[in-house]
Amino acid sequence: MTKSETQIESQNNFLLDNHLPEIGLEAMRDEVMRSLTDKPRRIPSKYFYNKEGSVLFEEITNLPEYYLSRTEKAILSSLWNKLAIDAHNLHIIELGSGDCSKIELLLRTLPKSTLDTITYHPVDFSSNALKDSANNLMQQFPDLCIHGIVADFFHQIHLLPSERPRLVCFFGSTIGNFNKNEINAFMNELGNAMETGDHLLLGLDMIKDLDVLEKAYNDNKGVTARFNKNILSVANELLEADFEPHLFDHRAFYNKEHHRIEMHLVARENMIVTCGFNDSTIELKAGEIIHTENSHKFDRDHIQYMGKTAGLTIRQVFTDPQQWFSLVLYAK
Ligand code: SAH
Ligand code: AVI
Repeated sequence: MTKSETQIESQNNFLLDNHLPEIGLEAMRDEVMRSLTDKPRRIPSKYFYNKEGSVLFEEITNLPEYYLSRTEKAILSSLWNKLAIDAHNLHIIELGSGDCSKIELLLRTLPKSTLDTITYHPVDFSSNALKDSANNLMQQFPDLCIHGIVADFFHQIHLLPSERPRLVCFFGSTIGNFNKNEINAFMNELGNAMETGDHLLLGLDMIKDLDVLEKAYNDNKGVTARFNKNILSVANELLEADFEPHLFDHRAFYNKEHHRIEMHLVARENMIVTCGFNDSTIELKAGEIIHTENSHKFDRDHIQYMGKTAGLTIRQVFTDPQQWFSLVLYAK
């Protein structure tokens, strides 16, 4: 592995590159400020994942109502042999790797003799999540080469490693957090970046009963509510602002027309929020909303459409007995 200017950590089998400075604090502040002054107001969902947000998301994945993670993990735990991909010298790139618990399941089922020929490239916006999970993975797979990349996988797709053959993994239905135009643009760009022989393994949450969907985002313990409100703490850090998260209510519902769960924060009272970094204020009326997340749900037609948009062929669709979650193997 070669040393680069962006490298922030390097041990035997572990390299970590941080490409967020190329985006810059100013651009992030601008993005959040512009979104908050949009109508309706919003905050892009990638800002959920500071240290606290990543911990809360992990807690969500263990909730009984949040069927997504356990369903996808059940499929992943016996998937490798069905993929018919040669593991030898493979470059596994995982977008939005989070706690790396899903790739761990896949790695456990690979032929042991191939592990020291594989490089794993986790890509995540959260350097904390990436460092902690890579450290954990190194303990379990000491022979594996890990090259972590702190980056925005939507805006910095050009940074994806070019070594081949590549298996790009995008688990968790995180692609569903893009809006429809972004899904198309992303698939198109990813497809262009892939070359013959490369594969994409894409995790997608499927359209299902409204009650099951809405419960997954309105859990009894209120963890999702805390996760949602935590985005205001991230905005506070970034904008030197004084949002009071406890003055907002969590709201999540399924939007049937757009096939998506929407998460909002609803102001409980009139308030004036100060943003210290540019000496501005944001005035919110009681009942006003901040849209924090879309989580699109998919069907077979959409799986095909995404393949076409990316110029990829569907090799196989793996699902659970209830067909709640799909892992789609696309090939270039
Ligand atoms: N793949 C894991 C984690 C999903 S949570 C799982 O399925 O459980 C979403 C992850 O994607 C978080 O770790 C978050 O930091 C990361 N993420 C969200 N938007 C991102 C972006 N634009 N660029 C890079 N990482 C992003
Ligand atoms: C990461 N992403 C796919 C999760 C989802 O289900 O959309 C984030 C999340 N939001 C609320 N709960 C979990």
